[in-house]
Amino acid sequence: MNRHVRDVTVPNDWDRRGLPGWCYHSPALLEVEKEHVFRNHWQIACHVSDVPSPGNYLTMDVVGERALIVRGADGVVRAFHNICRHRGSRVVAAEKGTCKNALVCPFHGWVYNLDGTLRGAARPRSFPDLDKTEFGLMPLDLEIWMGFIFVRFRQGPQPSVAELMAPFEAEIAHYRIADMVPTNGIWSHTSPVNWKSVRDVDNEGYHVAMAHPALQDLYGSTYFDEPFVNGVSRSFATYNPHAGRRWSVRNYVKLAPEPAHLPENLRKAWVYYGLFPNGALALMPESIQFYQEFPLSTGETMLRGAVYRYADESRAQAAARYLAYRIDRETLEEDVQLTIWSNESMLSEAFSGFYLSDLEYGVRTHHDHLRKLVPVIGLDTAPDEKDIWNLNEALRSQA
Ligand code: FES
Ligand SMILES: [Fe+2]
Repeated sequence: MNRHVRDVTVPNDWDRRGLPGWCYHSPALLEVEKEHVFRNHWQIACHVSDVPSPGNYLTMDVVGERALIVRGADGVVRAFHNICRHRGSRVVAAEKGTCKNALVCPFHGWVYNLDGTLRGAARPRSFPDLDKTEFGLMPLDLEIWMGFIFVRFRQGPQPSVAELMAPFEAEIAHYRIADMVPTNGIWSHTSPVNWKSVRDVDNEGYHVAMAHPALQDLYGSTYFDEPFVNGVSRSFATYNPHAGRRWSVRNYVKLAPEPAHLPENLRKAWVYYGLFPNGALALMPESIQFYQEFPLSTGETMLRGAVYRYADESRAQAAARYLAYRIDRETLEEDVQLTIWSNESMLSEAFSGFYLSDLEYGVRTHHDHLRKLVPVIGLDTAPDEKDIWNLNEALRSQA
């Protein structure tokens, strides 16, 4: 017999242990994760409105790879490795900017067209003839889905973003995300934890009642998480009937308009989608956002995200968006602290692993997705660091 947590079926006999503690502090394992989890899975880079005009570009570093997203003179958005074909410099150094009609490498001045082809080397007569395509910027997989730009450094086990998100497309389409515009740009923040500790906290709402007073006030009595299935999870909450003990929540509930273009069930709801391995979308009636985390090292993680709004936003929507931002900022600070405590405990000899509630089934299902790609994390005790890569390859070939 299976029990039901809200609408979600949780098998009775599921294994309540999370990943063993060594997985959160192993440099060799991080290299395996880069290979099988980060380089070959879709990453949200930004929204089309972050690069609205020809020449607008944006860069993003992920596990030693460098992405450059640029809108061409023809209006097409393309993605490339931000690696000069001469000697590997960054072709553009800034996180965001605009170039007139070419990208000029800051090292020796090779010039690239906005479609990535090489326009020319500096001092061209010092080289043999250079083929404009062969020496063009190396393209990256790019997919635009509902206005979000996704990139992938290498093809991998995931299908297209559209296929991944197909089960939720009808619900998400209501928000008209492709027409939205940026608010304060893309934020980033470095946190002293392993990336999985960030994801573990985000994958369950069991901690909301205790750790997030504002969220608990806003929607604590209705919040529920659905597990990861084929790389996507969903969490849903509607405002509590008596929300408003806190100033920001009271005013948010009072001011937030109920957009007519959303169906009834979404007009007073915050909906979150978890995108394996490391991203999430949050949909609110007045704004939407993405957030994600990238490992910088085993114990350091870059948090990154952005909020988007309706282009014709009303004053009430703007006020609601500000209040939602305040609630979210408070929540993020609380989560950062929780991830630090959880992460550091795994260095203690006394740490004996997780024992998860049915309400944390989302953590388990995320770990299950990881176990499939990185089976070495199924080992309870840490293998020797130098054996981890080969052991993982051997386990993958048996699967
Ligand atoms: S590395 Fe780019 S021009 Fe030399
Ligand atoms: Fe949280």
